[in-house]
Amino acid sequence: MAELVVDAVYLKEIKKARRELRALIANKNCAPIMLRLAWHDAGTYDAKSKTGGPNGSIRNEEEYNHGANSGLKIAIDLCEDVKAKHPKITYADLYQLAGVVAVEITGGPDINFVPGRKDSNACTDEGRLPDANQGFKHLKDVFYRMGLSDKDIVALSGAHTLGRAHLERSGFDGPWTRDPLKFDNSYFVELLKGKESEGLLKLSTDETLLDVPEFRRYVELYAKDEDVFFSDYAEAHKKLSELGFSPT
Ligand code: HEM
Repeated sequence: MAELVVDAVYLKEIKKARRELRALIANKNCAPIMLRLAWHDAGTYDAKSKTGGPNGSIRNEEEYNHGANSGLKIAIDLCEDVKAKHPKITYADLYQLAGVVAVEITGGPDINFVPGRKDSNACTDEGRLPDANQGFKHLKDVFYRMGLSDKDIVALSGAHTLGRAHLERSGFDGPWTRDPLKFDNSYFVELLKGKESEGLLKLSTDETLLDVPEFRRYVELYAKDEDVFFSDYAEAHKKLSELGFSPT
């Protein structure tokens, strides 16, 4: 690939792509799957070997066919329309921009977006993303591998305020909150209600946030104070979107 230079022309393209993503996401109501795409491209990062991360590799068949990425081809295809109009923009930047716009457009916090990620075709082996049937030890293993903290784990789990699980994709079914197109702190409010929040989904990896004090304190804090959640979420999301990336 030609060297990526983040100059005035590139920044202008990013600005235009951001507008188009806003329109696309509003039209198609696809904020949740766009956020999941950004997370799954980034969440393969391994800090030790500096492999994986937000590098656009999820666009390759080998990677989007991983079990954990089931359904994400829909979001990849939606992004192609924007890529066709702005070919200079890397897939890596485009997917992370889509994630940021998805949060903003549904009422979540503004997330500082710095462009300049390079694309890679190096797909990581399957198995780097978290398994929804596991508990807190697994969550720590996966997120510490990326270089993220306990606070990041809880804040980022709050992204399940958006969207739902689809039986044919993951084997799970239903939304985590009553308004899955609104980004707010209701994921934590519902989680604390336990069995009382009938009809809503709770994965093992959601429930385990109540199992250990170093997670639970953040669940309680975020359920009580949406401003703190928004500010910690914005910080954690920025970190996730920049794993292995040092802006020049
Ligand atoms: C959906 C697992 C963390 C964002 C899902 C689904 C599963 C899952 C099983 C359902 C997929 C489907 O059937 O369509 C997990 C696990 C996590 C995790 C085990 C470990 C903590 C995250 C993070 C984010 C995120 C960190 C973003 C920062 C989403 C979104 C959806 C989703 C927005 C809804 C997608 C849609 O409606 O199409 N997740 N997730 N998840 N996840 Fe996660």
